[in-house]
Amino acid sequence: MAAILEEVKASTDESDSMVDPEAALYQKSMRRLLQPIQKHLEDESVSEIMINGFDTIYVESKGKITKTTDSFKDEETWEAAVRNITQFVGKRLTPENLSIEARLPEGHRVHIVQAPAAISGTSVAIRKFAKEKLDVAELIKFGSMSEQCAEFLGIAVHLAKNVIISGGTGSGKTTLLNCLSAMIPSDERIIVLEDSTELQLQQDHVVQFEVKPPDAYGRGGITMRELFRGTLRMRPDRIVVGECRGGEAIDMIQAMNSGHGGSMSTAHANTPLDAIARLEVMSLMGGVDLPLSAIRAQISSAIEIIVQISRFHDGSRMLTHVSEVGPVNDEGHSTVKDIFVLVEKPDGKRELQWTGVRPSFVQQVQQARHELKIELTEPLWA
Ligand SMILES: Nc1ncnc2c1ncn2[C@@H]1O[C@H](COP(=O)(O)OP(=O)(O)OP(=O)(O)O)[C@@H](O)[C@H]1O
Ligand SMILES: [Mg+2]
Repeated sequence: MAAILEEVKASTDESDSMVDPEAALYQKSMRRLLQPIQKHLEDESVSEIMINGFDTIYVESKGKITKTTDSFKDEETWEAAVRNITQFVGKRLTPENLSIEARLPEGHRVHIVQAPAAISGTSVAIRKFAKEKLDVAELIKFGSMSEQCAEFLGIAVHLAKNVIISGGTGSGKTTLLNCLSAMIPSDERIIVLEDSTELQLQQDHVVQFEVKPPDAYGRGGITMRELFRGTLRMRPDRIVVGECRGGEAIDMIQAMNSGHGGSMSTAHANTPLDAIARLEVMSLMGGVDLPLSAIRAQISSAIEIIVQISRFHDGSRMLTHVSEVGPVNDEGHSTVKDIFVLVEKPDGKRELQWTGVRPSFVQQVQQARHELKIELTEPLWA
């Protein structure tokens, strides 16, 4: 490995080094070590590359996952390539740290899990950075959501509702969060917190923060929770958290309940109620000294809208529910009411339809009517 790097260093010509020697070196060594997947890295139609072991490589293109015939030469070459990635992102795989997430200079997001956690050898998933992010118009065009639902979400975001996007892996949560963030009025100060930067907000006043792990000696680094707490002192109008994965959930819930309206995040769950259950578990991980019933009540009052998105077998992504979170009921259970659900029509096509249920904030919409675009959602507010 060191020999390869030395060789690449020596062959890095002067013009490259004048641009940015680190980046040039990275490009060269990476291209060489990742040669078996280079064509997929360059192919813009490929959105994800999944390497389950040196000789098992899958790619996702246009929503479909297929197995390729590509392979790294052997286990050792593959391990060298992985070490190269970790070295350049400044993270380390150690026996104590079997899994890392990182972002390559091109913006690709990489997840690495090594043995013994990865049974069939070091596994890597590369979510490719798409220069052109999908926007709401495209999501409508793809049938992922209806125009009426897009208008509803625009109104909810404008009125600073707290929104959670829920979905499985690769279901389109981050893409949808990006689209919803784009609906935040441009005069608001938006603070974005992510494990690794993916969101691209177009507004003027955006501050982006990224979690950093400590170095090999345990120095430095900042966690999502520390970032979140710092953010609260930085006068955000909106807080966008890329993904809630742990104890930061309780910080976010409490911030939402103490006046930080219009915050948004995503969570890994399969239904809106499941998303609430996930938030409960994550909040409990936050180590606050509160009984579950209190946490549940806080979540129900903090989160206002849950948008559920799913990836279907044909590779399409569709919103399946847009639900409003209600209060905890007499039996102590969380409740939601669906405003939009995906229905299958007689011809087999799926369509996101309004359920006929009115949102609880009809009055607020009526009062803010002059500043909202209400066309297709008129019946919801009647
Ligand atoms: N509505 C959509 N229609 C078609 N493709 C989509 C849609 N939304 C997202 N995609 C594509 O699906 C892939 C995954 O999207 P995204 O990163 O938003 O998912 P995710 O749920 O955040 O994934 P993860 O769980 O890994 O964080 C990307 O390549 C993206 O371009
Ligand atoms: Mg994501």
